Amino acid sequence: MKEIKVELGDKSYPILIGSGLLREHGLIKKFVNSQQVMIVTNETVAPLYLERVVSNLAGLTVKTTILPDGERFKTLDSMNEIITAMLRYHFSRNCTVIALGGGVIGDIAGFASACYQRGTAFLQIPTTLLAQVDSSVGGKTAVNHKLGKNMIGAFHQPSAVITDTDVLDTLDDRQLKAGLAEVIKYGLIRDSSFFDWLETNIEKLLDRDFESLVYAIEISCRNKAEIVAMDEKESGIRALLNLGHTFGHAIETGLEYMDWLHGEAIAAGMLMAADLSERLGWLSINDVNRIEAILLQTGLPVTLPEALSPEKVRQLMAVDKKARNGQIYLVLLKQIGKAIVTNDFDDNALDMTLQQYSREKRSN
Ligand code: NAD
Ligand code: GLY
Repeated sequence: MKEIKVELGDKSYPILIGSGLLREHGLIKKFVNSQQVMIVTNETVAPLYLERVVSNLAGLTVKTTILPDGERFKTLDSMNEIITAMLRYHFSRNCTVIALGGGVIGDIAGFASACYQRGTAFLQIPTTLLAQVDSSVGGKTAVNHKLGKNMIGAFHQPSAVITDTDVLDTLDDRQLKAGLAEVIKYGLIRDSSFFDWLETNIEKLLDRDFESLVYAIEISCRNKAEIVAMDEKESGIRALLNLGHTFGHAIETGLEYMDWLHGEAIAAGMLMAADLSERLGWLSINDVNRIEAILLQTGLPVTLPEALSPEKVRQLMAVDKKARNGQIYLVLLKQIGKAIVTNDFDDNALDMTLQQYSREKRSN
C-alpha cells in the first residue's frame, strides 16, 4: 500500500492507495471516529461495493443514501436528500459521511458533510480513476447550478482518502479515458517528466496495466497533494489545477450536464488552452501537436461538441469562479510542465481558438 500525506496542519490526512483496501479488515473503521455513519453512493456503485464497505463498519450505526447516477443529479436537491436522511435518522454533528463513488458522489456528499450542522467528519472512497487522481483529494465540494458548474460549494477536507485500485476493474473504458484527461493535466501544468512518461506509457494505461495505473495514480496524487498543501483555498497556485476547466465547464453547462463526461470536456478544453497559448507566442506548435496526439491516442475529444457554437461557449465561459470584475482568467501554458493563470490575452485570439475548435467549422 502506498501512502501520501496531504499536509494541512491539523487538517492533514493520508491518501492510501492499494489493491484490495476495501476488503482489508479494520482499515476503513480506523478513519471513522463516530458511532453514526452515513454512506452516500449511487445506484450504479451500490450493488458493486456498498456491501464491502458496510461489512467493514460492523458495530457502528450505518445508514445509506443511494442517489441516482449522473452529473445532472449533482444538485441541491440531491444534497438535500442526504441532509433529510441524516435528520430523519437523528444524526448528530458527531457523525461521519462517507462518499463511495466517483467525483459526482464525492462532491455532493462532501458538500452535505460540510453543511450538516456546520460540518461533520468526512471520508472519501473514490471509485473512478478521475476521483482517485483528482476529486477525492483537496477538499473541494460542490453541486451545480443550471447557470453554472460547481457554483454552490465549500472547502471541506476529508479525514482520509481510501483508494482501492481493484474497483477500477468494473469501470468502463470511456470513464477510464475521462480519468486519464486529469492525469495528463498534471503533466501539463507542472510535471514535464510525467508528461514524457505518459507519452511512452499511454497504451499500457489504456490496457489497464496494473503497475502503470498505480504509478499514474500515485504521481497524480503527489502533485495534487503538494499543490493543495501550498494553497488550500485557491488564492494562487491551486488555480493551475483548472487547466482547460473554463472551456470545459462551459461545455458541460452548455450541454446541460449531459452527453459529455467531465474529463472529456476538460480534454477538449486543455487543447484549446494550448492552442491559445501558442497564438500568444508561448507554447511551440510542436508542443500543441504533442498534446493533441496524446489526447487523441487516449480517445478523448479534441473539438467542441457539435451542439455548441463558439459564441455560446464564449458566453458561458464568463460564468467562471476565476472571473474577476467581469474579466475572464484562464490557465494557459508557457511550456509543457509550466502553467500560469492570466487575463493577459487578446479577446480576438480567444475567439480564433474557439472558431478553430468548432466542429462545424472544422468539417467545412
Ligand atoms: P461520476 O462520479 O459521474 O462517475 C462516472 C460514472 O462511473 C458514473 O456512472 C458512476 O456511477 C460510475 N462508477 C463509479 N465508480 C464505478 C466503478 N468502480 N465501476 C463502475 N462504474 C463506476 O464522474 P467522475 O468522472 O468520477 O467525476 C466527475 C465529477 O467530479 C464532476 O462533477 C467534476 O466536477 C468533479 N470533480 C471535482 C473535483 C474536485 O476537486 N472536487 C475535481 C475534478 C472533478
Ligand atoms: N480540481 C481542481 C481543484 O481541486 O482545485
